[in-house]
Amino acid sequence: MLRTTFSVFQPKSYLSKFQQFLFLLIVSLLPLISSAQDNDDCFMCHDDPALNTIRNGRTLSRYIPPHALDKSIHKNVLCGACHVDAVVEDYPHPEILKPVDCGICHEDAQLNFLRGVHGRAYQANDKNAPDCKECHGTHDIIESSNPDSKTYKMNIPVLCGSCHKEGEAVSRSYNISEHNILENYSQGIHGKGLFSSGLVVTATCNDCTATTLCCHTQI
Ligand code: HEC
Ligand code: HEC
Ligand code: HEC
Ligand code: HEC
Ligand code: HEC
Repeated sequence: MLRTTFSVFQPKSYLSKFQQFLFLLIVSLLPLISSAQDNDDCFMCHDDPALNTIRNGRTLSRYIPPHALDKSIHKNVLCGACHVDAVVEDYPHPEILKPVDCGICHEDAQLNFLRGVHGRAYQANDKNAPDCKECHGTHDIIESSNPDSKTYKMNIPVLCGSCHKEGEAVSRSYNISEHNILENYSQGIHGKGLFSSGLVVTATCNDCTATTLCCHTQI
């Protein structure tokens, strides 16, 4: 036994080139095989379009289409790497799972967020405060440089405006409508540049200085 194990570490002397190739192939495929199996575990149940749950009297779907993450930047991240408490020896997993903690992998973004005005409101259990999902999405998260992203420069005014526009929840309850953040962006000098010329290089909230409003590091 010891001898066989040993031979693995001395492939040159014991294994032919082809055997070495096979060995490397298998070793390099192992993660792929096991990752497919991990997600397969979830799809034993979650590929059923009829999989539902009832929360506060409302029926919510728990069906996840097998290719749900294909377009996401997270397509290679395992289901169980985000939903850590869904990974159990014996199913079923707990009925109520913890919300995904993005900070497991995005520590800096999370620290910056928590320091800012939104993160502080979030920690004070302000129900209007945005969390990661509100701005980035869930299974559909893509990088901010992608024009389809809610956090793409051109789309930021709409994203922020969903809460800060006159009449929306935040402007109502915090009386910060005089800041009129959406208007500042869409009609203010920067916004004008953005929208009317379509120039992405115009200062958005990411790169203006005094009136900087974006995103993790500044608010
Ligand atoms: C044996 C079937 C089964 C397997 C396997 C399974 N789930 Fe579930 N899952 C369910 C059911 C049923 C629910 C709805 C539970 C309820 O609310 O009654 C659910 C709910 C969930 C929820 C929502 C939890 C919440 O708090 O609302 C998530 C997220 C989830 N599953 C993720 C996963 C992941 C990730 C895997 C694989 C690692 C997995 N599940 C494997 C049956 C399963
Ligand atoms: C990048 C992290 C991430 C990955 C990877 C991921 N999820 Fe999710 N998932 C989320 C987030 C965020 C939510 C919203 C609820 C929450 O915060 O936990 C969610 C919600 C869910 C729900 C609740 C129903 C719903 O649509 O809101 C289920 C079920 C679920 N995920 C299953 C899966 C399965 C199965 C996979 C693998 C194919 C998977 N998830 C991969 C982040 C992820
Ligand atoms: C108010 C909306 C908002 C919230 C809340 C938010 N983000 Fe972001 N995030 C953005 C925007 C807009 C960008 C792109 C512009 C920039 O980099 O400032 C971004 C960029 C990112 C990036 C890529 C750049 C980087 O900093 O690494 C990551 C990763 C990220 N966010 C993760 C998170 C996580 C994790 C959370 C929760 C802890 C979160 N975000 C909360 C709006 C938000
Ligand atoms: C298990 C680790 C893991 C978790 C948990 C996770 N992510 Fe990611 N995320 C990644 C990886 C890996 C990448 C980079 C993928 C690539 O570059 O191909 C990424 C990329 C991103 C990006 C794009 C960064 C950019 O440069 O624009 C954003 C935004 C993001 N994640 C947000 C989130 C949010 C929000 C959550 C929680 C709902 C989350 N992530 C949870 C691993 C994770
Ligand atoms: C889900 C709703 C939501 C979204 C989306 C959102 N915010 Fe906020 N924002 C809040 C809440 C709630 C507060 C109030 C926090 C407090 O004052 O305690 C706030 C406060 C602020 C403040 C401080 C205002 C002041 O007068 O104190 C600024 C600046 C701000 N947000 C900018 C932004 C920008 C820029 C975006 C887009 C990237 C954005 N917000 C997206 C909910 C949101």
